[in-house]
Amino acid sequence: MTEPDPPHPGADMERFVREQMAFVGLGDADIAMIRRTAPQVLAHADALTTALYDHFLEFPASARFFVREDGSPDRARIERRKHSLARWLTEVASVPTEHGIVYHLLGVALSHSHRAQRPGGTIPLPLMVGAMSLTQTALAGVLRAGLPDVRESLDAVVAWNKLLLVHLNVLLLGYLLPAPAGH
Ligand code: HEM
Repeated sequence: MTEPDPPHPGADMERFVREQMAFVGLGDADIAMIRRTAPQVLAHADALTTALYDHFLEFPASARFFVREDGSPDRARIERRKHSLARWLTEVASVPTEHGIVYHLLGVALSHSHRAQRPGGTIPLPLMVGAMSLTQTALAGVLRAGLPDVRESLDAVVAWNKLLLVHLNVLLLGYLLPAPAGH
């Protein structure tokens, strides 16, 4: 007899997030560090999101989601996306485990893996991983500049990196589901 497939992690997101936090060792000291440095990180949200989107525009593989038919950057679309990214960062910075927020974050994941009806189609998984690396680098820069004590800034970067990779796992969940129709 074959074992039934385990349920998709999206069936219980609170549990998935808690388990991932435990697995990467995101403990109370890390959470306290993230909460203490969140205002500093969020104060730079605009610069962080601008850096990310400027980077996307430099590479054809990522730029194609943000250009008009004539190949010029679609500035209005980019401004909307920057705003969404800042909102995502604000939610993540709260170290969420409660239902409403973690399901909103699953919705963000699905809008990358499944929403095909836009220029460029669905977002390739490697770009999501690369984007999280860019986010880690940008946050490390903000924390290094804002915390004069090197040891403290290193602890802060370690804590944020754990959190960001828990949320990379959330963003990748959509890619474990069947592809949208037509793919
Ligand atoms: C760290 C990784 C990323 C995060 C946290 C992120 C965050 C977000 C958020 C919060 C939204 C709004 C979703 C919604 O309202 O449902 C969004 C939409 C979008 N993102 Fe990302 N994003 C990431 C990576 C990428 C990458 C790598 C690309 C492409 C190069 C991309 C392209 C888009 C596009 C095209 C939309 C619009 C989706 C739609 O049609 O509504 N994102 N993103």
